[in-house]
Amino acid sequence: MAKKIGIIGSGVVGVTLANGFVKHGYDVLIGTNTPAKRDDLKTKTHGRAHVGSFADAAIFGDVVVLTTKGGAADSAIRTAGIDYLAGKTVIDTTNPIADAPPVNGVLQYFTPQNDSLMEQLQRLAPAANFVKAFSCVGNALMVNPMLPGGPPTMFICGNSEPAKAEVSTILNQFGFEVEDAGTVEAARAIEPLCILWCIPGFRGAGWTHAFKLLKT
Ligand SMILES: NC(=O)c1ccc[n+]([C@@H]2O[C@H](COP(=O)([O-])OP(=O)(O)OC[C@H]3O[C@@H](n4cnc5c(N)ncnc54)[C@H](OP(=O)(O)O)[C@@H]3O)[C@@H](O)[C@H]2O)c1
Repeated sequence: MAKKIGIIGSGVVGVTLANGFVKHGYDVLIGTNTPAKRDDLKTKTHGRAHVGSFADAAIFGDVVVLTTKGGAADSAIRTAGIDYLAGKTVIDTTNPIADAPPVNGVLQYFTPQNDSLMEQLQRLAPAANFVKAFSCVGNALMVNPMLPGGPPTMFICGNSEPAKAEVSTILNQFGFEVEDAGTVEAARAIEPLCILWCIPGFRGAGWTHAFKLLKT
């Protein structure tokens, strides 16, 4: 039976990953906090994903993917149900982007440098196995990106080795090399990669790049 993926978040990342998981043979439910968006989500996922609430996604998923606005992640997890996430791998795609505008193309974050959004979420739901992933590349390159330099690197972190192994398998299917940066604290380094990734875009150089870690 196909592994079930529950997606909490109905924006472009949620929809892109929903379609990516469907393409790779998973059974997907995408959740929105706004019931009026459900028909639109059916259309955007070509009728191939189930659509429901944040709680429906948390209950449905063997693996849960968090794709809300960073500032809404805490309340989204509370709305979805902290208990439903216990023991599950939770792929955290979010970035703590503040509502204030970028400064000369540099995004502002609402987290301090020695903390991160994923650490806050892990403290909120301690029995869930959070893994940071998909946070440092644009949605257009999240599913099997074709780049001249070959597969890009996805930086991940989290406290559960089995959860990171599960996410690494998914990332390989989605066309990424995986660089495991360690425990949840490494999100302090991975989340700001989004700031760096966005700078060329804000400076007019496009949004079609991705990070690759080169090694000897
Ligand atoms: N866009 C990208 O290319 C990209 C790339 C990498 C990482 N990310 C990160 O991925 C996450 C999702 O980004 P996105 O661009 O897809 O969408 P987004 O606009 O950042 O988030 C949309 C989702 O957030 C929910 N939301 C917004 N405000 C809320 C609130 N006050 N209470 C509860 N839920 C709220 C929406 O709920 P409803 O379902 O009710 O509308 C929707 O599900 C973000 O954290 C972003 O930093 C984005």
